[in-house]
Amino acid sequence: MDRSGIFAGDDPFAIARAWLAEAEPVEPNDPNAIALATVDAEGMPNVRMVLLKEIEADAFVFYTNYGSKKGQEIAASGKAAFVLHWKSLRRQIRVRGVTEREEGPQADEYYASRSLKSRLGAWASRQSEPLSSRAALLAEVAKVTAQQGPIPRRPPFWGGIRIRPVEIEFWADGQFRLHDRFRWTRGGNDKPWTVERLNP
Ligand SMILES: Cc1cc2nc3c(=O)[nH]c(=O)nc-3n(C[C@H](O)[C@H](O)[C@H](O)COP(=O)(O)O)c2cc1C
Repeated sequence: MDRSGIFAGDDPFAIARAWLAEAEPVEPNDPNAIALATVDAEGMPNVRMVLLKEIEADAFVFYTNYGSKKGQEIAASGKAAFVLHWKSLRRQIRVRGVTEREEGPQADEYYASRSLKSRLGAWASRQSEPLSSRAALLAEVAKVTAQQGPIPRRPPFWGGIRIRPVEIEFWADGQFRLHDRFRWTRGGNDKPWTVERLNP
């Protein structure tokens, strides 16, 4: 197959890492922002931005509140999809996969790396639940600040979600809308990847 240049290589995670590294110096904000899609119990889709924090050997990881809407939808379906789009590079990466929680030492380490205010904010926010006022949230922050002290532990309801892809598509803008698309698919995590070029 004529897969060369920015699409070359046998490891889709290495390609994703290379594209993100290219986007980092040119994208004005959050080059690691992904639009994360989930579905609710009725199959109604939902989408929101989150930050992609790790591209592992075989998976993608972001962090969130497990009690949030997305957290509940992922817990129920065990699946998620996301897209990364870089306007500066005119490229996108699409991922569909199965999910698992990352709530071990890796999540503790990432939590500990965040600013103290962010760590306390994670404790204070019942993410996605109605909030009576901003003042109520700030009061909650003050309360958890007093309770947790200067080194808060990671909240048990907050941590990573790992997406193990069954499908990854790399897309790059081409002249006259003749874009390049390569879709990597596999039947399961232990199965080999198949790569196909797709019509734009
Ligand atoms: C650029 C950007 C990055 C964001 N990153 C995260 C994130 O990493 N984790 C997170 O829980 N929410 C993040 N958010 C907020 C989410 O978009 C969303 O509002 C929140 O997680 C609640 O979503 P839910 O009600 O569907 O669970 C981010 C928003 C933006 C615009």
